[in-house]
Amino acid sequence: MIKLAFFDAKPYDKKWFDKLNTKYEIVYFENKLTLTTTQLAKGCGAVCAFVNDEITAATIDALHEIGVKLIAMRCAGYNNVDVESAYGKINIVRVPAYSPHAIAEHAMALLLTLNRKLHRAYNRTRDFNFSLVGLSGMDLYGKTAGVVGTGQIGRVFISICRGFGMNVIAYDPYPVKDSDITYTDLNTIFKESHIISLHCPLTDQTKHILDAEAFSRMRTGVIIINTSRGALIDTAALLDSLSSEKVGGAGLDVYEEESDFFYQDLSGTIIKDDILALLVSRPNVLLTSHQAFLTEEALANIAETTLKNLDEFFNNDMLVNEICYLCDSGKVADNCRRTRVERCFK
Ligand code: NAI
Repeated sequence: MIKLAFFDAKPYDKKWFDKLNTKYEIVYFENKLTLTTTQLAKGCGAVCAFVNDEITAATIDALHEIGVKLIAMRCAGYNNVDVESAYGKINIVRVPAYSPHAIAEHAMALLLTLNRKLHRAYNRTRDFNFSLVGLSGMDLYGKTAGVVGTGQIGRVFISICRGFGMNVIAYDPYPVKDSDITYTDLNTIFKESHIISLHCPLTDQTKHILDAEAFSRMRTGVIIINTSRGALIDTAALLDSLSSEKVGGAGLDVYEEESDFFYQDLSGTIIKDDILALLVSRPNVLLTSHQAFLTEEALANIAETTLKNLDEFFNNDMLVNEICYLCDSGKVADNCRRTRVERCFK
């Protein structure tokens, strides 16, 4: 039986992998995959990793040396993987879509909670404080939502916003052809939106797409929602904009430095990250611990697609969900990933 080293394992992951797996010996590790933990994968044909694992060139080389052939990412984003270093050594697969609804609905949950101050109301009424002072929000109906990135999640978020009677404008360098989405430039998104929601990947181009300059161009009181990747936002600049009340609220499921904190119970420790501590202390910031994906439907789809990705690899079939440096680089035919009939390398 082929062995799979499963890193950063949580009970909710195990539930679905154990339910659907019939072919692999899965060894679960609570540790994240980093250079120092690679040795745990000795004897394994593949590793399964997640969003905050450190899959650097050194980690890849160490895995390659001990005979690991495949890195199966059980997530969509892969900004934490050095795909260029992996090329020719270890194939990488991912789960490109498991439930865009899970993430888009979480983005709307953050927006609704922040806007109507439900997080504060919940705490107040638990303490029998039934005062409404400071809890007023705005009607979302008729307001403008600016959506950055109109891929699978962005498009679901757009239709949810439309259900609320909001006016939606969007920016994406690769607009969906023949769609009814109103596209505009980023500057117009900043200037006109009452709410800005980020649904683009983290790349060199999108790092700090919301920085001090961007915040300065926004409407006063704008609400920022980020369920994509923390480094899309310059968090220090966001804190300044929250302090000056330029930004009225921030709903964040991701944080630039989240890998040291998220997915762990640190309730008994002193958090040595002043920016994170300040964010958490603000009444108009709602932080969740990268949980937008966490629905039963999404977890089941993640396990099912990851196991299918493993089957394709070990059966020597084409890897439908392969990530490859060359495909990403644009150095091969357009849409390589969709048109190719073979693996990127063997
Ligand atoms: P997708 O690949 O379907 O869509 C991404 C869109 O962003 C594409 O339309 C692309 O053209 C666009 N884009 C690329 N560069 C851009 C730029 N410079 N400015 C604006 N748009 C740009 O991806 P999907 O599935 O919609 O996911 C979006 C992001 O959500 C992922 O990259 C991932 O980081 C994040 N995510 C977060 C999860 C969570 O649990 N919080 C779970 C799953 C994904």
